[in-house]
Amino acid sequence: MWGMIATWRMAFEGVSKGAEMLEAGSNAGDAVEAAIREVEDFPYYKSVGYGGLPNEEMEVELDAAYMDGDTLDVGAVAAIKDYANPVSIARRLSRETVNSVLVGEGAEKFAHKEGFERKNMLTDRAKAFYRKRRKEVAGQELKPYSGHDTVGMVCLDDGGKVTAATSTSGLFMKKKGRVGDSPIVGSGFYADSKVGGASATGLGEDLMKGCISYEIVRLMKEGLHPQEACERAVNLLDAELKERRGKAGDLSLVAMNREGQWGVATNIEGFSFAVALKGQKPKVYLAKRGEDGRCTFEEASREWMEDYMRTRMAPVEE
Ligand code: GLY
Repeated sequence: MWGMIATWRMAFEGVSKGAEMLEAGSNAGDAVEAAIREVEDFPYYKSVGYGGLPNEEMEVELDAAYMDGDTLDVGAVAAIKDYANPVSIARRLSRETVNSVLVGEGAEKFAHKEGFERKNMLTDRAKAFYRKRRKEVAGQELKPYSGHDTVGMVCLDDGGKVTAATSTSGLFMKKKGRVGDSPIVGSGFYADSKVGGASATGLGEDLMKGCISYEIVRLMKEGLHPQEACERAVNLLDAELKERRGKAGDLSLVAMNREGQWGVATNIEGFSFAVALKGQKPKVYLAKRGEDGRCTFEEASREWMEDYMRTRMAPVEE
């Protein structure tokens, strides 16, 4: 059995590529890396890789991670600039026994020495979004913009290996050096081939408060189906944050167990995700949480898919 699940519609092309690789016998490490690179390389996705939106100093600082569920190896980069594929650098780092999580200049030096592709990740389109935003908030304090989407994936191969990986430009207009959940093991991602994996998108500062990806894997280890595990963890964190702090940021999670069963949960409207399974075509679904805290989802229509791309590629009106 092989399978793949990922946050957001933007992962669809990557998941489709990963699925082809898994079908041809690739392992879950190669497939998840290739799938995330596909998202990083597409300039119209403005929260991941090339074309990602910049921090308040107009710099694109990227976070990414990779975890191997066989060995529990973890590698991550945070606030890295000017490299094309942060997920590949994270995966390379996962093979180090020490110094496997690097930030900023240290991550860039490592990437340079290892020969990773340098690239100016700030596109003209991202600059236009930045100028537009500055005009919108002229005279006010700059605040991080909350509409941001991380790509997070879990992958299972035919040999039973589970991996998880993430990549994001984080919050638009974030402070220089700000790090979200995506490169933090247990928060943005977790993988254990004996159980399964989980990955997150949403407000990093709040996702981290629940170590939520680890929590979902822990619940699956106790025997919960991934759907139950996602709902229980997301609903509990959402409730705890509201009780203690008055509000909860966006929390959306995907998970898959070692049998290829999968689940999602969210506390927002309009969370999309992509799934591929052996014997089935890759699909995009739209999820929402009902009054009872259960998450329901349906396959995205062709119109929705077309509209999504049209919106993503529409000119930026400054
Ligand atoms: N979840 C991505 C971030 O907060 O940076």
